[in-house]
Amino acid sequence: MGQQDGQALMELVAGSRSQCHKGKVADYIPMLAKASAETLGIDLHKIGEKNPLEAGDSTTVFTMQSISKVFTLILALMDWGEEVIFEKVGMEPTGDNFNSMVKLELVEPGRPFNPMINAGAIAITSLIKGASPQTKFKRILGFIRTVAGDEKLDYDREIFESEVATADRNRSLGYFLKHNHFLEGNVEAHLQVYFKHCSISVTCRHLARMAMIMANNGLDPDNGKEIIPKRYVQIAKVFMISCGMYNASGEFAIQVGIPAKSGVSGGIMAIVPGKMGISVIGPALSNKGNSVAGVHLLQRLSEKWQLNMF
Ligand code: DON
Repeated sequence: MGQQDGQALMELVAGSRSQCHKGKVADYIPMLAKASAETLGIDLHKIGEKNPLEAGDSTTVFTMQSISKVFTLILALMDWGEEVIFEKVGMEPTGDNFNSMVKLELVEPGRPFNPMINAGAIAITSLIKGASPQTKFKRILGFIRTVAGDEKLDYDREIFESEVATADRNRSLGYFLKHNHFLEGNVEAHLQVYFKHCSISVTCRHLARMAMIMANNGLDPDNGKEIIPKRYVQIAKVFMISCGMYNASGEFAIQVGIPAKSGVSGGIMAIVPGKMGISVIGPALSNKGNSVAGVHLLQRLSEKWQLNMF
């Protein structure tokens, strides 16, 4: 990617910065509230390019939060296959908030609607193979390190502790799932693994590379090695389009038109199939939990470079 693209990206970031004040940094996990609402950065990794393009505050370190749900889903699919996984979670959007429990009680048999909402992601985490919670997390971290291409990735202890201390809603989801037989075993142990994978620290560089691997149907373009089976990339992309931006997924699909997953830290990972991976960070969130300036930036980028896949 040339100098011109870099200049265009810088201008796009400058133009979206004014949106930061329209959102609010998440504070329901107290340590997340330390992030700056003014931050906005982007990294764009084209398939086959050695040097990704960056602009704005792209070196900001943040936690994956719900973006990790894409990779726990893929790992669980690699562990068990589709049949087993879709007995425990559904394939449909909810239209509710990401931490909602309303449908678990209202809609029989209480199966989480999809693996991108908290209830579905907690059920998926419980299925990751491993003899202990430590082994399960080690496998998740190892997988994420491979996709991100960085063996040094780790989780942020402070964010993890902060979430553990304030996660009563996720605890209730876990026990509700167990009551309905969509999760087995020690709920607290499963939750610890879930909180840890949400707390894995990354930059936009990592997430753009992870999205680039998915844009390339799971193959590492450097050596042709399969990191993720194509079928599971396909499934993950469908969930990203239909539920990746929570109950703003329809709006995002219309305005931006590419599969994406957001997290409450303000990160978004987006895939342009066959072309590139993109990641933005902008901690100021909309009331639906998505980065306000990040979505604005992706929308303008999509329009300018005609990335909409529909
Ligand atoms: O379950 C939680 O509260 C977080 N660890 C993850 C939530 C999240 O990122 C939802 N996203 N928008």
